[in-house]
This record gives sequence, C-alpha cells and structure tokens, in this order.
Amino acid sequence: MLNVAYRLGVRPLLFSLDPEVAHNLAIAACRQISELSILQAIAKSTFYYSDSRLSQNLWNLKFTNPVGLAAGFDKNAEAIGAWSNLGFGFAEVGTITSQAQAGNPKPRLFRLPSDRAVLNRMGFNNRGAASVAVDLQKYLRAHKLSIPLGINLGKSKVTALEDAKFDYAESFRSLYEFGDYFVVNVSSPNTPNLRDLQATDQLCAILAELNPINIAHKPILVKIAPDLNDADIIEIVKACQAYGVAGIIATNTTISRQNLVTTHIQITGKSVTDEAGGISGQPVRDRSLQVISLIWQTTQGNLPIIGVGGIFTAEDAWQKIIAGAAIVQVYTGLIYESPAIVKQILQGLVTKLETHGLDNIQQAIGLAHR
Ligand SMILES: Cc1cc2nc3c(=O)[nH]c(=O)nc-3n(C[C@H](O)[C@H](O)[C@H](O)COP(=O)(O)O)c2cc1C
Repeated sequence: MLNVAYRLGVRPLLFSLDPEVAHNLAIAACRQISELSILQAIAKSTFYYSDSRLSQNLWNLKFTNPVGLAAGFDKNAEAIGAWSNLGFGFAEVGTITSQAQAGNPKPRLFRLPSDRAVLNRMGFNNRGAASVAVDLQKYLRAHKLSIPLGINLGKSKVTALEDAKFDYAESFRSLYEFGDYFVVNVSSPNTPNLRDLQATDQLCAILAELNPINIAHKPILVKIAPDLNDADIIEIVKACQAYGVAGIIATNTTISRQNLVTTHIQITGKSVTDEAGGISGQPVRDRSLQVISLIWQTTQGNLPIIGVGGIFTAEDAWQKIIAGAAIVQVYTGLIYESPAIVKQILQGLVTKLETHGLDNIQQAIGLAHR
C-alpha cells in the first residue's frame, strides 16, 4: 500500500528532480527523523516490523532483523537515528575517508529506470573521518542506537596507493569507538586504482595495520567488487580467513555494462558505456548472488557474509540468504520502492520461513547448499 502511494505520488516527484538533489532531500528528511522523537514515532508506526524469528546474534551483536542500509546512502552518518525507525535491522554509514573530499564533478549520479538501476561515480564525497567523529560523538552522547552501526572506510583520493594502509588506519582510529563493525572498502570503482587494493598482499597490509588499533576486537569486514573473477575471490576469501576478518560484504557496484536495456544517459546524452561509474540495482543482482554462493562454498559457511546487490523483494533477499548471506543490505531498492521496501521484505521473509518449515532466519542461511 505504502509503496504503491510512493510509486504513484512521491517517486514521480523525486524522479523529476536531479538524482543528487533528490538524494539530499531524502537525507535531509531522514536527519529530521533522526533528531525529532515525534517523527521517529511516526516513522516507526509506519515502517517498523518486528518478528523474533528474524532476529539473530552475529559477532556478539544483536540484529533484530537481517535487512540493513547499505553504504553510500548516509555517507556522513547524518541520520543514524532514523534507520531503526524506518525498519532496518542495522545501518552502515560511509564510505568515510581520512581526508574530507568533495568527490567527483557533477553530474555523478544517474537513474536507469528501464533497468531498475543506478549509475554512480560519486567518488567518496564525505566530510572526513575527524569531522564525522565529532558529530557521531555528539549524537551518541545524547542518543542510544537500537541497531548495530557499521562504519565503511575508504582511501582518500589524495593518498597514494602505497600509503593506503595508513589512510585506513587513521580513519579507523578516529571512528573506532563509534562503530559496532567496520568495513574495509576496496571495491569502489570511483576512486582511481582503489580496486587494486583487493590484491591479497595489499589487502593484508591494510588489515595488519588495523589489527593493533582494534583493541576491543570489533568485527572488521571486507567489501568486494562483483567484477573480480572467481579465482581472485577465492584467494581474497582465504586471505581474509587467515587474517581473522569477521566477514565479507558481497558486493559493491559493477563496472560491467552488459545486458543493460538503457543505451544512453539522458542528462549527458552519452552512451552508457562511455559514462564512468558503478551500476547498482537489478543488473548486479545475479552476479552478487553467485559471489555469495562462491564465498559460502569456499568457507563451508564459516565466514559470515553480508549480501548486497539488486535486492528489491523478499524473494531477492531470500535467495541471498539461502545462498549464504547471514544478513543483507539495500540501497537501490530504496530509491525505487521507498523505505516501505524494508517491511515488505521482512514480512516476506517470515512467510518464506513458514513455507519452508523453519523456526528462524539462521536456519535459512546457506540452505541452498544443504
Ligand atoms: C549512489 C550510490 C552510492 C554508493 N556509495 C557507496 C559507498 O560510498 N561505499 C560503498 O561501500 N558502497 C557504496 N555504494 C554501493 C552500495 O552500498 C551497494 O553495495 C550497491 O549499490 C549494490 O546494492 P544495491 O543494488 O542494493 O544498490 C553506493 C551505491 C550507490 C547507488
């Protein structure tokens, strides 16, 4: 009902705006929810859904449901009090870099409605770790979050690739006390050469730099790209296991332009193959699912996976979970379907559990392999 109203009323309005303007409006609205308890109550009564069968403990954290907000939506952690009231079971903020940076020139965010996709080359626009830390401290002094908060870290553009480990470490130190889990993001296509850090020697150097800072043994995850080949994924996953990484986030956006219905980007008039950036949404769904399956098979289900990429429905989320994802995240689905998508997915997951005669969501993880 709610997303029908969104599709007919709010979405045409938002889609008539420049995508980044629409995003900024959405964040501004979520900031208000984050600040005002009356709006929290309204959001909660509209969007929140709870069922104890969807709850699980992971890394000593309680996830009341398995659907989280993916990185990139709340880059500066401006609206962290909103996400639980919109129904999410966890939220990941960032990507945050040690240096404040403006990101790539605009326009840098495009909708591809015929593909139910988004193309972005934002380039880690964010206020920098120190500044975000100040705001997080202020907010968390006055409010207690009811869901786990993930903090996604990236490399500052000005930092040379060989110094990446120091850059990640600086952000990790600044933000350490505020995150329940942390993500080493080495998979954005929008920072030059960042994805080279997925090479195991480079990745291990970053992880080694973070380990001594991690005195409370907070979970550190690695977020990978869907464009890696299977052999590279297996190598990364094995290196992550050897380094005690807590989990893998699969996946980031894709640089592939295969199988798109969209041929041109309207605003620029350019062919979609000539526009730099990563594609999210439906086109990344199947590869993300394959990557999750591969990780699960490589680790025999012993390394938790956060599944992300093209989740629009409960069926999409279920497929990710039975392929091996312990929890999942949504970004593009939110743009096309509104926050009502979360409740809808959660209700659908409960139905799936009942249909399969399962008592809780944990029993569904990796089910496709058993
Ligand atoms: C506009 C936009 C910005 C994003 N920014 C980030 C980011 O800063 N860090 C990151 O790790 N992922 C980022 N992502 C990737 C998402 O977190 C997610 O991995 C990807 O979009 C696939 O999920 P989806 O199909 O549900 O959108 C971004 C995605 C979009 C659409």
